Amino acid sequence: MAGTPHGWTPEVFRVAARTAGFDMDASQDAAAARLVRLGDEISRRRPLFGRSAPRGVYIWGPVGRGKSWLADTFYAAVPVAGKRRTHFHEFFREFHRRYAAHRHEKHAGDRAVRELLGDCRLVCFDEFHVHDPGDATIMARVVHSLLGQRITLVATSNYPPTGLLPNPLFHHLVEPLAATLHRSLDIVEVAGPRDYRRARRPGTPAAEFERGGYLWPGTGDQLARAGLVSPAPAEQQRVRLGARAVTARAVRGDAVWFDFADLCDGPYSTIDYLSLADRFRDWTLSGLPPLSTTGRDAAQRFANLVDVLCDRDRRLHLVAAVPRTVCLTGDRLPPDIQRTASRLALLPEIGTAPAAVADQ
Ligand SMILES: Nc1ncnc2c1ncn2[C@@H]1O[C@H](COP(=O)(O)OP(=O)(O)OP(=O)(O)O)[C@@H](O)[C@H]1O
Ligand SMILES: [Mg+2]
Repeated sequence: MAGTPHGWTPEVFRVAARTAGFDMDASQDAAAARLVRLGDEISRRRPLFGRSAPRGVYIWGPVGRGKSWLADTFYAAVPVAGKRRTHFHEFFREFHRRYAAHRHEKHAGDRAVRELLGDCRLVCFDEFHVHDPGDATIMARVVHSLLGQRITLVATSNYPPTGLLPNPLFHHLVEPLAATLHRSLDIVEVAGPRDYRRARRPGTPAAEFERGGYLWPGTGDQLARAGLVSPAPAEQQRVRLGARAVTARAVRGDAVWFDFADLCDGPYSTIDYLSLADRFRDWTLSGLPPLSTTGRDAAQRFANLVDVLCDRDRRLHLVAAVPRTVCLTGDRLPPDIQRTASRLALLPEIGTAPAAVADQ
């Protein structure tokens, strides 16, 4: 693709890839070309009354194919003053709250969006998915209001719009949202040859998340090897979460140690995990059982927690009862368990018999 007057060429992405130590694959090249076009359109555009926003892009594909990397690279480079990258569920909850406050007004959705985003022209949502049937209608409203305010959307997802809310009992509820996404965004599949998280290139610097570890069963020797010191009973304390609190086994500066039962088997949401991730940089979660033996909600919360900590690049040590592959295998696991597996594969495993449990 030729260059543009605003300097938006595929070089923006190629240089970022080279700096990160890899080359883009063919499907990333195609997505990058589409984002280059958007970057060019959006950087020329002056908001004029009645003018529609440049058409956004919905990037979807299997885990670890470099979708978030593409969206982040685009976001970092695009020269637009009013831009926002946000965790979709954080935005969604806040929208819901404000929408409810204005629900008797005629344009409640638009007002909620204006309150949340002000003059924003571009919003990037990572990890766009719908699993709760109750969320489908309100998510359609969020997207509708954003588009109505002439805000351009860039989203990444593991699902094509028509594959959102895969549960066949409820899938019909998401059809209006899927139709809006199809009508308003370009849908681009990024499905390179492999999960790049599972093939770390030697010499590339480890992210903070990867400096953690997966320990099982968590013997004293294993903890010592990971540099972890078991909390004394007296270190237990309650960590505030707005009007509520959650029990931590220890808080040491910006390091925190939770038990799975306290953090994932309680009534905590992704928003709570986001606020804890803002507060603590170094995490240990002990007592992780095989997920097939926990309640479905606890397993889903654990998956959400891993998403948040990986996305915010927080160091994570997991102390588990069983090897990683066993922990994540079984019936009735969360629908996005592959995302969790891909992220946990980044953690070095400290186990009793590492050779026997190498990742498959
Ligand atoms: N072409 C590539 N070759 C090697 N590594 C890559 C390539 N593209 C991206 N990566 C790296 O692969 C890792 C995973 O990328 P990313 O988080 O963007 O995946 P994703 O598609 O968003 O995955 P998920 O669906 O699980 O969220 C990142 O460390 C990223 O820098
Ligand atoms: Mg991603």
